[in-house]
Amino acid sequence: MKPKLINLAVFASGRGSNFSAIAKAIKQGKLNVELKVLVCDKPEARVVKRAKSAGVRVVLARREDFCSRPDFETAIIQKLIDYRIDLIALAGFMRLLSPVFVKRYRNRILNIHPSLLPAFKGAHAIKDAFDSKVKVTGVTVHFVDEEVDHGPVILQQEVKIRNTDTLASLEKKIHSVEHKLYPKAIKLVIGKI
Ligand code: GAR
Repeated sequence: MKPKLINLAVFASGRGSNFSAIAKAIKQGKLNVELKVLVCDKPEARVVKRAKSAGVRVVLARREDFCSRPDFETAIIQKLIDYRIDLIALAGFMRLLSPVFVKRYRNRILNIHPSLLPAFKGAHAIKDAFDSKVKVTGVTVHFVDEEVDHGPVILQQEVKIRNTDTLASLEKKIHSVEHKLYPKAIKLVIGKI
């Protein structure tokens, strides 16, 4: 019997370079999942255009359009049920998921973060590492739990900060590591589902 193809949803709010890296890995046959849907909370985000041009359907869910967070998340969960989603990859999704959501998809939600967690949590991890003058930072892919930028680590990779680095050059190095590490981490996880 053929193994079941895992249905993946990517959640993103912004630029979408990790979305594109995942979509590319799938297209190249390096990642055996079906990218069913992009869930995005920002209609104007660049990731929406990327999804459309990659032929991936987009679910737009603006928090402002719902009376409460439970209503917002219930609408998203209904879509995940409709598309039979097995696995969720947060890729720059700048919204905290509730404990109810996390519990429902325990060990099925991955997040990528641009630091070696637990160092430099939060929305400005690359700048925070650069400003703090550490010599090494990196990228983490982890399972999501109830805390922000926290949960069992799946993969981490170091990135050295050289004296010659600028914030821009460091950002570039981090993102290029992210684009390889995220598909690798998803591959590891689907091997165990
Ligand atoms: C990535 O660098 C990701 O690690 C970060 O948002 C960026 C999204 O970039 N996530 C976090 O900081 C989570 N705390 P992208 O939209 O180009 O994929």
